[in-house]
Amino acid sequence: MTILVTGGAGFIGSAFVRMSIGQTDWRVVNFDKLTYAGNLENLTSVAGNPRYRFVHGDICDQALVDSTLAEEKPDAIVHFAAESHVDRSILSPEPVIRTNFRGSFTMLEAARRRGVQRFVHVSTDEVYGSLAAPLEATEEFPLNASSPYSASKAGSDLLARSYFVTYKLPVLITRASNNYGPYQFPEKLIPLMIANAFEDHRLPVYGDGQQVRDWLHVDDHCRGVMAVLEKGREGEIYNIGGNRSLPNLDVVHKVLQLTGKPESLIEYVKDRPGHDRRYALSSEKLMRETGWRPFTNFETGLAETIDWYRANSAWVAGVRSGAYLTYYERNYGNRARG
Ligand code: NAD
Ligand code: TYD
Repeated sequence: MTILVTGGAGFIGSAFVRMSIGQTDWRVVNFDKLTYAGNLENLTSVAGNPRYRFVHGDICDQALVDSTLAEEKPDAIVHFAAESHVDRSILSPEPVIRTNFRGSFTMLEAARRRGVQRFVHVSTDEVYGSLAAPLEATEEFPLNASSPYSASKAGSDLLARSYFVTYKLPVLITRASNNYGPYQFPEKLIPLMIANAFEDHRLPVYGDGQQVRDWLHVDDHCRGVMAVLEKGREGEIYNIGGNRSLPNLDVVHKVLQLTGKPESLIEYVKDRPGHDRRYALSSEKLMRETGWRPFTNFETGLAETIDWYRANSAWVAGVRSGAYLTYYERNYGNRARG
């Protein structure tokens, strides 16, 4: 089987490519634009493998997507490519809407014309919006997006569904909770806190830090996407959660503990506009239908992730330069309370 993975140079996509090459006999074509979040260093372990090919391209480029599908004839598409960060979507929504909605449309349309046998659309629990405790979203919950990021994901999620309902394209949709693990770009909570703690920089906690997220190790997420690709029912939606809900402040405390840094590094800063208070979801359906389970214990996974960032300081230094510093200043420069 040949699979085409979009966004395979990013955090989750690269873990999925490494897992596919390492644990299956599939050919993997990675289609990626290499935005600030895409990094071929994430793929050095597979780059020389004859079953792996990289195509540098934008998912909004219909002609290139069409010609790549015509050449590679993938049996399945796993669509990860996205602008994936809420804060950036607040600062600059245009590329987020373009890639996440328009780009998903391009991929769906190309898949429909080619008659691809399986299209896994990678969505997020953020499409459900903020949920009051003790609610846990099941796949039937209404979509209630709050940020330009989650709205663009909700839009593409619905568009993917429409291609199943209208054109019978064999679409499957996954909605995962917050991922963590190696190679995550240090703009998201966990890698940002780890990288700042290493350098004794302030750890910026938005608002009161009591917002709740459900933490899923990236390898557990990838195994979930694989389970859906191989065993999921066409037209169905599958939640993928880590079954580990924590307030942000608890996560930050754990990072400080594991890095041996003082609590005085915590800085409470102005809250994110429209900040969702709590995400929570049930993965019962995926577990029942495929036997998938999240294996990684959060404390173990976090300690291993910290070890990875410690051992890969050159990778961190490479991505925390240039445009990253501009972004950091834009997002945090004006945020101090008072
Ligand atoms: P990421 O930002 O680390 O990587 C995104 C990748 O997509 C990069 O390699 C980038 O170069 C590529 N890309 C961006 N725009 C593109 C375009 N126009 N054409 C081609 N490639 C493009 O993202 P991630 O955290 O790995 O997330 C991957 C997917 O998983 C996204 O769809 C995201 O919405 C979803 N998701 C992420 C999380 C999470 O916690 N990170 C949770 C649930 C779902
Ligand atoms: P993030 O990793 O951006 O993921 P998402 O917003 O998609 O859930 O943020 C996770 C949580 O951490 C979210 O509630 C916002 C909060 N947060 C901070 O408090 N400080 C930060 O510097 C960042 C990046 C996030």
